[in-house]
Amino acid sequence: MSRTNQTALQTVKGMRDLLPPETAVWAAVEATARAIFARYGYREIRTPILEETELFARGVGEGTDIVGKEMYSFEDKGGRLVTLRPENTAPVVRAYVEHGFAQLPQPVKLFYVGPQFRYERPQKGRYRQFHQIGAERFGSGAVPATADVEVLLLLVALLSELGFRDLKILVNTVGDEESRASYRAALVEFLTPLAERLGDDSRRRLASNPLRILDTKIPAERELLVGAPSLAEHLNERSRAHFEFVRSALDEFQVPYEVDPRLVRGLDYYTHTVFEIVSQGLGAQNAICGGGAYENLVGELGGADTYAVGFAIGEDRLVDVLPADSPARLSLPGPTIVALVGEVERGERTSFALAETLRRAGISAIDAGGKGSKAVWKLAEAMASPWVVFVGADELRDGTLTLRDTATREQTTLPREQAIARLAASYAR
Ligand code: HAM
Repeated sequence: MSRTNQTALQTVKGMRDLLPPETAVWAAVEATARAIFARYGYREIRTPILEETELFARGVGEGTDIVGKEMYSFEDKGGRLVTLRPENTAPVVRAYVEHGFAQLPQPVKLFYVGPQFRYERPQKGRYRQFHQIGAERFGSGAVPATADVEVLLLLVALLSELGFRDLKILVNTVGDEESRASYRAALVEFLTPLAERLGDDSRRRLASNPLRILDTKIPAERELLVGAPSLAEHLNERSRAHFEFVRSALDEFQVPYEVDPRLVRGLDYYTHTVFEIVSQGLGAQNAICGGGAYENLVGELGGADTYAVGFAIGEDRLVDVLPADSPARLSLPGPTIVALVGEVERGERTSFALAETLRRAGISAIDAGGKGSKAVWKLAEAMASPWVVFVGADELRDGTLTLRDTATREQTTLPREQAIARLAASYAR
């Protein structure tokens, strides 16, 4: 059978390959994040990509879009109902409880980097496999609100280290469970007589998740909501004081933020402070980060009540709007190309051996021994090589190397050791 007419296969809809040279930017972003996490005392956790479906149903909430319609769930060969994780807070909380982290000295600070899966309609900035850099902080001192502030300060430190200058930080409070329950009741009472005028989604949410109606994008619904009771009026004293503390501390540390009373977030576990960081450069899917506090989730997933707060950055979106002058874009120079000139007695072996000598001296190198000069230049361009090194009969006789600087096109012949030192300087960090 002929193998030439097979159709080529492609990535699954909504998923994509991350390719060089962009992957170097991803790696640099992650390296920066790791450095900042270390500065704030966070250590890495790696949980499985597959979890029991029930974890998300209980953790994220049955009434949320994520659990209701976006999960990749299936039965495995043993009949277990499992799900590709759509987010990583519930898995990290599961791990915290499962491994008895509550017994460790608190706070326990964990970070993660990895893929998440949501069956959403793909569009710019929205993928079915996307990647998050996130953190969860468990336990708090006498004033839990300080944990919220510290997490926001970490985020500001990370984003400014990456070169961001004009991001908007939106904060709000959803209050504690008591405040939310009182508000939910008031909102349902207000909206029930208007249910006919709500769209299908919002009408469904009226029963399952009424707070989510607040962030509707439908103009007619937004109009209806103008007269709705506000969450701020339903905050109990404890919730009010918590948010007051967060705001004054953010002022004290000169973190620019806006209070957005409509910000409620799409996951059920939040209490108290919620936040999002948005970028103008992204269009409709403009949130590069979301997070907030959750004081009941550890208890709901079988642990002892523990105050916790965290966030997740969407790495795909972050890389998309990474400033042109971000330090994360300054990656190491590409490999030096080792080329042959003229007829060299031992043929390609000469450049093969020289490339290995260079690597042993810490210089990134590619052997281009068999290539003609045009192909050598093409390769140097494609690989962003700072140097092309030539060896020919003259160089072998004299114990020299000829270096060509690809940026200036200047060419110099130097004694071998000196040439190697010059190349090594380009790769020194
Ligand atoms: P989230 O708001 O669902 O929160 O997701 C966080 C970020 O992930 C979003 O701001 C966005 O940048 C990115 N993201 C979400 N869905 C997609 C998608 N389909 N394509 C591309 N990027 C996406 C959470 O996941 C919470 N676990 C955050 C958290 C941690 N809260 C407390 N701790």
